[in-house]
Amino acid sequence: MPRSSAYQRAVAEQRAPARENHAGKLNLIEIVRLATLAASSHNSQPWLFRLEESGISILPDFSRRCPVVDPDDGHLFKSLGCAAENAVHAAAAQGHAAEVTFESSTQGVHLSFHRSKAIRASELFPAIPQRQCTKLPYDGRKLDDADRAALEKAAIGKGVRMVLIDDAPTRETIIDYVRQGNRAQLCDPAFRKELVSWLRFNDVSAIRSGDGLSARSSGQPSLPDWLARPILRFVLTGESQARTDERNIRSAPLIALFIAEREEPASWVETGRVYERFALQATALGIRSAFINQPIEVRDLRPQLNALLGLRTEAALLMLRVGHGPQAPFSLRRPVEQVILKPEAVA
Ligand SMILES: Cc1cc2nc3c(=O)[nH]c(=O)nc-3n(C[C@H](O)[C@H](O)[C@H](O)COP(=O)(O)O)c2cc1C
Repeated sequence: MPRSSAYQRAVAEQRAPARENHAGKLNLIEIVRLATLAASSHNSQPWLFRLEESGISILPDFSRRCPVVDPDDGHLFKSLGCAAENAVHAAAAQGHAAEVTFESSTQGVHLSFHRSKAIRASELFPAIPQRQCTKLPYDGRKLDDADRAALEKAAIGKGVRMVLIDDAPTRETIIDYVRQGNRAQLCDPAFRKELVSWLRFNDVSAIRSGDGLSARSSGQPSLPDWLARPILRFVLTGESQARTDERNIRSAPLIALFIAEREEPASWVETGRVYERFALQATALGIRSAFINQPIEVRDLRPQLNALLGLRTEAALLMLRVGHGPQAPFSLRRPVEQVILKPEAVA
């Protein structure tokens, strides 16, 4: 079997359509499968799931931290929030409402499920396996007003809000900040080393690890490791990435910013939930998005970005380009069994 089809087979298996089930007992394994299809920083999948009688805890897996790009674990907790949001929609499709709380004792997100006759799958549910960060150029086409309004409605959270930016001067300044961010990140040997550790240059290594940034989903050619590693020094530079990002941002009619009142784990989790809900709504409408977080990840650029947005007490915690374009190849996930804590591991 050619390697490409092994990748596609893995994607098809992991992303089997999400089906409603109101028959009876909660299928927690299915909820975990759908939760793991959420976005995560560097596709690090920094989560572990503890199954309970009528609930799930999503615990941080600190062995999957990215300390250089994410020294305070903000992205890690946002990733947990993304998974939690998928789990909420997955539970609803099984006739259960979810109560979501952040538990400071475990640093985890706890979801408790209770049966509700009133609850039904929303249109966001079938979008779970179809959501992706589409890291390709878009076609420049503007969004309909109704679609824009639907995105704005989806992206309201507790202490977290989203703004859409389309005015030319602000966009130009953001392009400049992303350029500066790329230069700072890719000139930093520690950043490069961490990033490279998550790059999967070909299908074999992407399938083997089930995580990380596959060449395929990033729109890059597939190369053997022995060839990709030495040439990366020449092809992946601050300038080359800045050019790619500039082209990609210009191809998107909108920039979305997720703004939070507080910077702490519970607020990061909520920010992840709001992003994921936004992305599911976008997917349901056939709208693409991809992160451009450099001015948030490079700490020196944060004050400038927040000032540009007129923020005083709040802070921008995620940034995306948004538009229309082709679907990209999907990213892979680790098997569900690998992320579920065995009962003996439960304290
Ligand atoms: C908190 C967070 C931060 C992220 N930051 C970036 C980023 O700066 N640049 C980027 O290209 N993708 C970023 N991503 C997207 C991940 O690379 C992506 O979710 C992961 O590769 C899995 O792919 P998928 O979302 O298409 O399933 C981020 C995702 C999350 C949840």
